[in-house]
Amino acid sequence: MDYLEIKGGHALSGKVRISGAKNAALPILSATLLAEGCFNLQEVPDLEDVKILLELLKELGIKVKKSANGQVELDSSKLESYEAPYDLVRKMRASVLVLGPLVARLGKARVSLPGGCAIGARPIDFHLKGLELMGAKLVIREGFVEAKASRLKGAHIYFDIPSVTGTENLMMAACLAKGKTVLENAAKEPEIVALGEMLINMGAKIQGLGTATIVIEGVKSLKPTTCKIIPDRIEAGTYIMAVGAAGGELIIENCIPDHLETVILKLKAAGLKIDVIDEDKIKVKKKGRLCSVDVKTQPYPGFPTDLQAQIMVLMATAGKLSVITETIFENRFMHVAELKRLGADIRVEGRSAIVKGVKHLNGAPVMATDLRASASLVLAGLGAKGTTIVQGLHHLDRGYEKMDEKLAQVGARIRRLQSDGV
Ligand code: UD1
Repeated sequence: MDYLEIKGGHALSGKVRISGAKNAALPILSATLLAEGCFNLQEVPDLEDVKILLELLKELGIKVKKSANGQVELDSSKLESYEAPYDLVRKMRASVLVLGPLVARLGKARVSLPGGCAIGARPIDFHLKGLELMGAKLVIREGFVEAKASRLKGAHIYFDIPSVTGTENLMMAACLAKGKTVLENAAKEPEIVALGEMLINMGAKIQGLGTATIVIEGVKSLKPTTCKIIPDRIEAGTYIMAVGAAGGELIIENCIPDHLETVILKLKAAGLKIDVIDEDKIKVKKKGRLCSVDVKTQPYPGFPTDLQAQIMVLMATAGKLSVITETIFENRFMHVAELKRLGADIRVEGRSAIVKGVKHLNGAPVMATDLRASASLVLAGLGAKGTTIVQGLHHLDRGYEKMDEKLAQVGARIRRLQSDGV
């Protein structure tokens, strides 16, 4: 099993290039199911989650050709299956993104239900209710959702909570439905806008991207396209915060500063010096101890839940007291117990974590519990005194492309090592 050894206390310096966004790549790859022909995608990140989805697309009949530079060609001329098996969906919940496209193109789909998740229940009821409103007949059998519809029809759909993959699944399905679909209280994340723009390039008629009301006028067929995946705002935010944890100065390249507005404002309030130096570059510098700020996670454009664990690391050694409230997922504080092992003073009360800044963290062995928690432990290790060992790297590798290599290139003392079969 791989693990990371981090010797803390070394300031960062240099440039980090941000990869294509995992959460944009996954729906965009799924959208290739909607049209017959050859797609060419660029800046596809080399991540475990992307590999799992590509495996699933291959099982469905798509021919996949990957090049070393993040280019992926997909030939979706002929689909051979409409089933997403348990083994793949279990490994990666976002596999459920094939449900909408499969029903829309083939009129049928059999997709394993994802089951529980470390950070919360994460149901997919919005996806299912939306498809039913669009005329699909759904049956839950043997752990699978089986959906059928000769042709989906447009519908007026309201999300009780703006769901990211729910919005994406129904938006893709609606593109080939008969008539108009309106998605109300839809999610506004940049990854949804990126997917929508790709669908428009494929011939879809979509209005209102990036707003709470998305209107889709169904068309009979779509055509393949090329698409460049947008930079990963969560990866960029994580590296900005790496400077907050380790100190020093970094230039973050290939990012979209607009997508990070809330995060930048919050981190500036905490005392990080952040300047947008080009349309796709940010300079971050740490001067002295950070001050405590309160944080509440919200759907975009609010502070992202996917950066909650990372900012908690910064607050763990900040000046005073910080209250971090998680409003999206009910169990997303698994990293707290691990941070406490490094000496953090954190108390969880319901949906809030009360973080009292200590002078410094001390290195220790820790275990990653989920994707973003694993990134937070890496940041904690960068700032801690002594050596931190981070285990459970399969979580990190799901969503961060070569994080250890990128950090080592900018001065972090971080090594990926292998233990003997433990
Ligand atoms: C996506 C992101 C994930 C991010 C999350 C919130 C992808 C692949 N993953 O996950 O990184 O942490 O958005 O920004 O893009 N909900 C329901 N019923 C549903 C769907 C969602 O109750 O059918 C609830 C969830 O339990 C959660 C909230 O809605 O409390 C938001 O979840 P959602 O936006 O759907 O998260 P994901 O799309 O799974």
